[in-house]
Amino acid sequence: MNTGGSRAAIAALSIGDLRRLARRRLPRSVFEFIDGGAEDELTLADNRAAFERRRIVPRVLVDVSKPDLHTDILGRTASAPFVIAPMGSCVLAWPQADLALARAAAACGIPYTLSTMATTSLERMAELVQGRLWFQLYVLRDQRLTDQLVDRAREADYEALVVTVDLPAGGKRERDLRNGISIPLRMSARQLVDVLAHPGWTLRMIRGGLPRFENVRGMLGDESAGLTIAARVGQNLNAAYGWDDLARLRERWPRKLLVKGVEHPADAARLVGLGVDGIWVSNHGGRQLDGAIASADALPAIAEAVAGRVPLLIDSGVRRGVDALKALALGAQAVAIGRAALFGAAVAGESGVRRALQILTDELALSMKLAGVPAVQGVDASILKSH
Ligand SMILES: Cc1cc2nc3c(=O)[nH]c(=O)nc-3n(C[C@H](O)[C@H](O)[C@H](O)COP(=O)(O)O)c2cc1C
Repeated sequence: MNTGGSRAAIAALSIGDLRRLARRRLPRSVFEFIDGGAEDELTLADNRAAFERRRIVPRVLVDVSKPDLHTDILGRTASAPFVIAPMGSCVLAWPQADLALARAAAACGIPYTLSTMATTSLERMAELVQGRLWFQLYVLRDQRLTDQLVDRAREADYEALVVTVDLPAGGKRERDLRNGISIPLRMSARQLVDVLAHPGWTLRMIRGGLPRFENVRGMLGDESAGLTIAARVGQNLNAAYGWDDLARLRERWPRKLLVKGVEHPADAARLVGLGVDGIWVSNHGGRQLDGAIASADALPAIAEAVAGRVPLLIDSGVRRGVDALKALALGAQAVAIGRAALFGAAVAGESGVRRALQILTDELALSMKLAGVPAVQGVDASILKSH
């Protein structure tokens, strides 16, 4: 129980408030693992700037008395144009954070994406959560193990497979290197002081028990070396994965297939030709290639190349409901939420995630009213100031 956390989360007015609360509640190394990006964090900052510098030209005299947030995501209606993005190791924010995120998404009527690097197995997730479940696939070096993951997701009835293609190697996340945050957790004297200064978190972690990467248990080779989380993941992924491999995956996975981490319009066009069901525009929240284009800046050219043939999702940098409205105007069908949801989880578990989703949904509805947009479906670039 964490009634203090729930109270604080409910009092939070914005995702910024939740982030500040999370910063106070988490050991610094954990907060920086979640909040930080790669190298100089240029892309991390630009993800925000790309939303912040865009302006809406509001329409007036429109009936906006009942803004309609419902939208079609992969052929099914969602109550809002949001999806929870896959996040590995998020157990560090809160015990069983995967479940907290999935349950909050189900309650809100939006899809949830379980990471390959979650600490809840995909089977257990499917057993415990009734909502729309997608599985995010990291392509492992060993093709046989990758195939096993795909088959397990099919067996467990996942609606969609999201294959992440922007991590042929782990990004250079210097905060994590400096803080020495690694898997398995290794405690330096400095980290011990950091952890002891956050007894609430420490107690929750002790009660939660030792987390493991349940989906890839026994698949990651030598687990003794203390690598950063990104390096651990990168070391196990197939950096040679290419178009032919993806075509084989398309054959193996009969349901909805999304490709996450796309920024170039030529790649997007080729993916449409390959028969994917959706393209997820993302730079991994600025955690991979520092210097990569902001997602909101990449989206218009991708929308043009794809020309409505498959739906587009976007993530990286969404912190306000109005960011979602801008993303929809730029051509996205839905907006994926990463850190914004995880900050909520860090403050109060499932109720914190619900609060984060409520904030974003309320802000989106209000922005729509003020911009003269009655419904999410049909938003287009005409409400944006052209550059
Ligand atoms: C703590 C954390 C863990 C992540 N783990 C994964 C992962 O396992 N697989 C993946 O495809 N993306 C992962 N991502 C990237 C997110 O799916 C998403 O692209 C990114 O967080 C979006 O940016 P935002 O946090 O600014 O919304 C992770 C992001 C964070 C913050």
